Amino acid sequence: MSEKIYIFDTTLRDAEQVPGCQLNTIEKIEVARQLEKLGVDVIEAGFPASSPGDFNSVVEISKAVKRPIICALTRAVEKDIDIAAEALKYAVHPRIHTGIGTSDYHIYEKLNSTPEKIIERAVAAVRHARKYVDDVEFYAEDAGRTAPEFLARVVEAVIDAGATVVNIPDTTGYCLPHEYGEKIAYLVNNVPNIKKAIISTHCHNDLGMATANTLSGVIAGARQVEVTVNGLGERAGNTAMEEVVMAVACHSNMDYELGINTREILNTSKLVSSLMRMPVQPNKAIVGRNAFAHSSGIHQDGVLKSRQTYEIIDPEEVGVDQSSIILTARSGRAALKHHLKDIGIYPEPDELDDIYQKFLSLADKKKDISIRDLEILAGMGNKENKVYKLEALQVMCGTSTIPTATVCVSFGGDTFTESASGNGPVDAAFNAIKNITKRRFHVEEYLVQAITRGSDDLGKVHVQISHKGRMYYGFGANTDVVSASVESLLDAIGKIS
Ligand code: KIV
Ligand code: ZN
Repeated sequence: MSEKIYIFDTTLRDAEQVPGCQLNTIEKIEVARQLEKLGVDVIEAGFPASSPGDFNSVVEISKAVKRPIICALTRAVEKDIDIAAEALKYAVHPRIHTGIGTSDYHIYEKLNSTPEKIIERAVAAVRHARKYVDDVEFYAEDAGRTAPEFLARVVEAVIDAGATVVNIPDTTGYCLPHEYGEKIAYLVNNVPNIKKAIISTHCHNDLGMATANTLSGVIAGARQVEVTVNGLGERAGNTAMEEVVMAVACHSNMDYELGINTREILNTSKLVSSLMRMPVQPNKAIVGRNAFAHSSGIHQDGVLKSRQTYEIIDPEEVGVDQSSIILTARSGRAALKHHLKDIGIYPEPDELDDIYQKFLSLADKKKDISIRDLEILAGMGNKENKVYKLEALQVMCGTSTIPTATVCVSFGGDTFTESASGNGPVDAAFNAIKNITKRRFHVEEYLVQAITRGSDDLGKVHVQISHKGRMYYGFGANTDVVSASVESLLDAIGKIS
């Protein structure tokens, strides 16, 4: 029978403490509910002693989410533990996560202490936490840079004191995969009472090794992994949940039971990204926009013949509708034929050759080939000019005004003007465009980037909209981000056939 690996999600604690990622209690509950749906075993809901907001979030998440264990972080300080226990009073399955630094840097420089006193404090904290709950996890902060012999002494002592889980954080993301694995193996082989507790990994990504280190820890005997959605977290982040889950799912020789509904991975990623206002990099493993997009001709041809030639994961397994074949100057005939078929055009081989030559010269000039471009290349485009052009834009916003936008757009030889209000100037302008184009669409992704760093900089806006089950991308660039946003939306709408 396959062994269980417990998924401990710390998005709401380790990732949430990143500047700019703060969530309010309602948002945290939404994320916690989604994590429950995803199937995680433990939700680290916060650090209650750190602020009244964190305390309240742990209380409310404990009330709202019943299946997973709800965990609260503390330092090895009695008061912290008392506060955590109070915050967890509504949790069906409460866990207190307490700990202290164990590396020389922490013992001597941060805590001004000695190894013996650290063990005493660790044991006292675990004993105190056990007065409140049966499930106590201990973390040895900076275990990644702690000598294995001392780490083994700490771990043995805290298990004797009642710890049910021992967390071995690579707090600074320093370890190499084989070193981290050896650290876990050392504990498995040298701590006499190790079988009384679960070993947990907690890896940071400073050297880009977090997922590799986590898997190395699992292979060596860890049975809990601490992860965050999209790998968010302090500095370079924590281990990405989606990477560990899919690495295990893809390898039949890693016969572990995870209990994760992988089809909820993309939904979870999108929710966290939008609530924490942290866009996912396009090439991010599993959840990036390009993770299942193929653009070179050789790859496209292969994927169209058999998906497995260039894909190790079926996109539907992680909640992505399908892999996408992007038309670029490097696409081959197979990709072009695939897209033409999608819009109901079935050319004879010599017609395809002809369309392909025209396509190549257009693709050399234009990065993004739209359905409408294909129709024109295939001689099917109707003559009506469907491209929307922004003629004028006026926005009114500020602290004491309802944001309102008036947008003037020309298409098909006419000019149309509409005004609308919204949550902000961009939302107001988008609402005005909806009125003008009469298109029903949903904005799926909206990303503003500055090209350099000054406030006078050119803003680039990428937008992704869905219309009748299909996705359309639009792009705009302008020194005024509202204008860039409007241009990007018009670009995307113009691609709807
Ligand atoms: O990285 C770390 O050491 C931590 C602990 C507080 C668990 O986040
Ligand atoms: Zn951490």
